[in-house]
Amino acid sequence: MAQIIDGNRIAARVIEEAAGRSRDFLGKHGRVPGLAVILVGEDPASSVYVRMKIRDCARCGIESFSYTLPEKTITGELLDLVGALNRDDRVDGLLVQLPLPAHIDTRRILDAIDPAKDVDGFHPANVGRLVRGDKYALLPCTPSGVLRILDDSGVDPKGMRAVVVGRSDLVGKPAALLLLNRHATVTICHSRTRDLPQICRTADILVAAVGKPFLIQEDWVREGVVIIDIGINSIGPDDAPRSLLEDPKRVADFERKGYTLVGDVSPAAAVKASLITPVPGGVGPMTRALLMENTLKAAEWRKNPPEVPK
Ligand code: GUN
Repeated sequence: MAQIIDGNRIAARVIEEAAGRSRDFLGKHGRVPGLAVILVGEDPASSVYVRMKIRDCARCGIESFSYTLPEKTITGELLDLVGALNRDDRVDGLLVQLPLPAHIDTRRILDAIDPAKDVDGFHPANVGRLVRGDKYALLPCTPSGVLRILDDSGVDPKGMRAVVVGRSDLVGKPAALLLLNRHATVTICHSRTRDLPQICRTADILVAAVGKPFLIQEDWVREGVVIIDIGINSIGPDDAPRSLLEDPKRVADFERKGYTLVGDVSPAAAVKASLITPVPGGVGPMTRALLMENTLKAAEWRKNPPEVPK
């Protein structure tokens, strides 16, 4: 039976540490660290994520600056706000919630964020530092959360075969690079990959970051694999396998909300793992906790730039 990793427990510790560093920062510099979060439009999921980020800031003693702009905001207007926040010394971290409306040039926006404030790690300078394996880099929160979970669970990727399913810039690619930097032998799979099940079966560590409920099937995984499930998918009762329909928590979800959140890994595959992150309660809370840690890093490095920026 798989051991289920409690992401909430690990995240609570990261948050607690961030709160301690935030108090130290206040003592040393006479102000608390600051995080600005920009949301464009009213996407319900993004609005929930942003609210949770603001709440996490309050828990960590980080001042939050929240901007909600109308859906019709144009690239130039958003660039102006990013520029103003880049110049605002109270702001140590700056995050633009994605996805942006289709008419906005997302690349231009991400490239305009001061790399020193880029707590998402999406700016090309930070992506470059990730590729080089530099010590002083702001790294994307979800993949960093994955590595933190592995560390906390006593899994050293060195020499292990890691298969990452999904190649997004936000999650799959950086997760693969972080695993590579930790000396795993990494295979990245995607929608055009041939023989996906066969490649997944080679994995000692399987990272699923696709966004397709239950993509990873029972016969795709070896007994004893470590599975990190990054998918967050909402499904209704008609799409739920029997094991979920028998789970009281899921039944309560269906009755209350009409849906439940599941990952990319089927319950039948999950039971073959030695360790698995659940959805919800696995990688999700770690992503939010790592955002707080990145804000502290950004604040500290802005005050005391690392002598050798690498
Ligand atoms: N949307 C989904 N995940 C993320 C994230 O990690 N950062 C930002 N900025 N937007 C997101």
